[in-house]
Amino acid sequence: MKVGILGSGDVAKALAGGFLKHGHEVALGTRAPAKLGDWAKQNPKIRVGTFAKAAKSAELVVLAVKGSGAANALRAAGATNLADKPVIDATNPIADAPPVNGVLQFFTGLDESLMERLQREFENVRFVKAFNSVGNAFMVNPRFAGGPPTMFICGNDDVAKQMVRGLLNQFGWETADMGKAEAARAIEPLCMLWCIPGLLRNEWVHAFKLLTKTVEKE
Ligand SMILES: NC(=O)c1ccc[n+]([C@@H]2O[C@H](COP(=O)([O-])OP(=O)(O)OC[C@H]3O[C@@H](n4cnc5c(N)ncnc54)[C@H](OP(=O)(O)O)[C@@H]3O)[C@@H](O)[C@H]2O)c1
Repeated sequence: MKVGILGSGDVAKALAGGFLKHGHEVALGTRAPAKLGDWAKQNPKIRVGTFAKAAKSAELVVLAVKGSGAANALRAAGATNLADKPVIDATNPIADAPPVNGVLQFFTGLDESLMERLQREFENVRFVKAFNSVGNAFMVNPRFAGGPPTMFICGNDDVAKQMVRGLLNQFGWETADMGKAEAARAIEPLCMLWCIPGLLRNEWVHAFKLLTKTVEKE
């Protein structure tokens, strides 16, 4: 699959490596391609260009920019280049304010997520929330003593979610589909929870797993 990644930070780079590892074609977009010169040389199979270039030829787009810049990055990618495409939204609405006792501050409220805001502005984009609730070091085929962790996803388009479920399988994750875009109100704050042990005790090596009870036969 042709994957266009919007972003130049740790998440964009980690996911670019993951998609490449699993045989996909990767283009990465940033406002300033020149700053990735050295990284591009070390990763010659990944094309580095503008947000618009990365989105244009992509069959699947990954949004991996700072939460407050997400709408801006999508606008720069271009509504036509994104129209009807599945977009994995890995962003979190983290405010430019310090954590309080290890708890990150968000610029959204409990009854509105960043993904819903993006979905309202880009109506025909098929957003799927994923990858936002784990550190970038564990996004691609993580190994945990408790087995594969769970990625919580949501989005309005079932076909796009099915595609993302398949990719998460490749990336070594179980998937828990939490429903429509509104579920991002619950999934985005998982990032706060994930970061608390890190911010309080410098513990960053964990992931979430959803346990369900097996139904026993009578
Ligand atoms: N770090 C993690 O382990 C982790 C884990 C899960 C989820 N997340 C989420 O994933 C996203 C990316 O995180 P990150 O740590 O890789 O990078 P980041 O430092 O949060 O963001 C860097 C990216 O944001 C873009 N950006 C910043 N302001 C912008 C603006 N006004 N308009 C357009 N683009 C803008 C930058 O664009 P340029 O390339 O043009 O500079 C760059 O690509 C964040 O939303 C974060 O909350 C992070």
